[in-house]
Amino acid sequence: MQSGAIAHPSTQLSGIITAPGDKSISHRAIILGALANGQTEVTGLLRGADILSTIGAMTSLGAKIAENEDGSWTVDGCGDKGLNSPDDIVDCGNAGTGVRLIMGAAAAYRITAKFTGDESLRSRPMARVLDPLRDMGASVKSAKGDRLPLTIASNGELSPVDYTPPHASAQVKSAILLAGLKSEGVTTVREKRLTRDHTENMLRAFGAEVKTRAKDDGQIVSIEGPIALHGTRVNVPGDPSSAAFAIVAALIVPGSSIHIENVMMNPTRTGLFETLAEMGADIRTDNFRKSGGEVIADLHVRHSNLRGVTVPPQRAPSMIDEYPILAVAAAFAKGDTVMNGIDELRVKESDRISATVELLRRNGVDVTESADGMRVRGGAVTGGAKVKSFHDHRIAMSALILGLAAQNPVEIDDASMIATSFPDFFDLMASLGANIETS
Ligand code: S3P
Repeated sequence: MQSGAIAHPSTQLSGIITAPGDKSISHRAIILGALANGQTEVTGLLRGADILSTIGAMTSLGAKIAENEDGSWTVDGCGDKGLNSPDDIVDCGNAGTGVRLIMGAAAAYRITAKFTGDESLRSRPMARVLDPLRDMGASVKSAKGDRLPLTIASNGELSPVDYTPPHASAQVKSAILLAGLKSEGVTTVREKRLTRDHTENMLRAFGAEVKTRAKDDGQIVSIEGPIALHGTRVNVPGDPSSAAFAIVAALIVPGSSIHIENVMMNPTRTGLFETLAEMGADIRTDNFRKSGGEVIADLHVRHSNLRGVTVPPQRAPSMIDEYPILAVAAAFAKGDTVMNGIDELRVKESDRISATVELLRRNGVDVTESADGMRVRGGAVTGGAKVKSFHDHRIAMSALILGLAAQNPVEIDDASMIATSFPDFFDLMASLGANIETS
């Protein structure tokens, strides 16, 4: 059901919030827990719609997954028994990470499973995962263009591959590694650019040996199957991609000073923080500690006079989901911010380059779109427009954050997708003093 929201110009955001559980790590905790022998206990899991889709999918493939009274989750994995063919079509909703990783994991077993998703997910390319799975021996029945819905049929005897993905993609790397768990021999992924390494880290936590070797700007990752995973405890750290919205809000709303606790600082995820620092953002980090195998920290963010920068394209994988909210920060900066080498944004939950350009332009920001990026000229942001969120949680939240610092309110047509990754967005922003109304 569609429901709109409107963000009004606000003053002096202040207060302390805790970042919600990381979406990438939450997906992986459920999927690896479902593959493992024995039980996995997950604390801090993101209770977002995407993760609930992954829980539904892994349940239909045979795992038993339950939420406990204290908010933690218990996963009873399929282990040696293996995943089973689901009775019904597996609907992964809006979850690109969910469906791509699960297709890889499922292909390792003797299974026939049909996957689908919502309208946005059905429009996204799946060939990037299906091509290597086919190379490994899985058979795929899909409509032209390799989009969902599609059926994966596997005899459970995949061959290992040595694969160099054409795109920098943690989802592709992860799907191949999960498919390789049951293959006899060494499965290798050669990444030209390093992408988020949560699958490698979590496989190790579940008892797998994962070899990684740095190479130029990327790395070579390999596992030697067959590998049996063992259930463990996973404590999900806070999501830097969600924290990004509150951080940028505090940077652009005059007089703001906020604290955000529990933010994961894994260097494969912190490109936005580096970029904001270059723009002159006043962000202090302290209380560095380890949680669930990841370094986390608390952030103190104050309103800052930002200046435009050119973001190096090689930084893109470490901030791939943060470009829309960076573009919002750039609209309030002095000078131009140039973002190139980000054509992958065109195949996210929406075409995030054109959706961001449209949201900025309609609110009076001077922005130029190119095939692989955009240039934002900072200055006065008039606001006052109603914009489309294109069924994309990050576009919806970026538009609302823009509205907090624009001269006039900014409205979005549909806020329902925000629950995909940040179900507490409205409550947490309200606790900081942001004036956002839902309808
Ligand atoms: C993710 C990887 C990224 C990112 C997505 C989450 C993951 O996608 O955009 O939100 O958890 O592996 P790509 O692998 O397509 O770059």
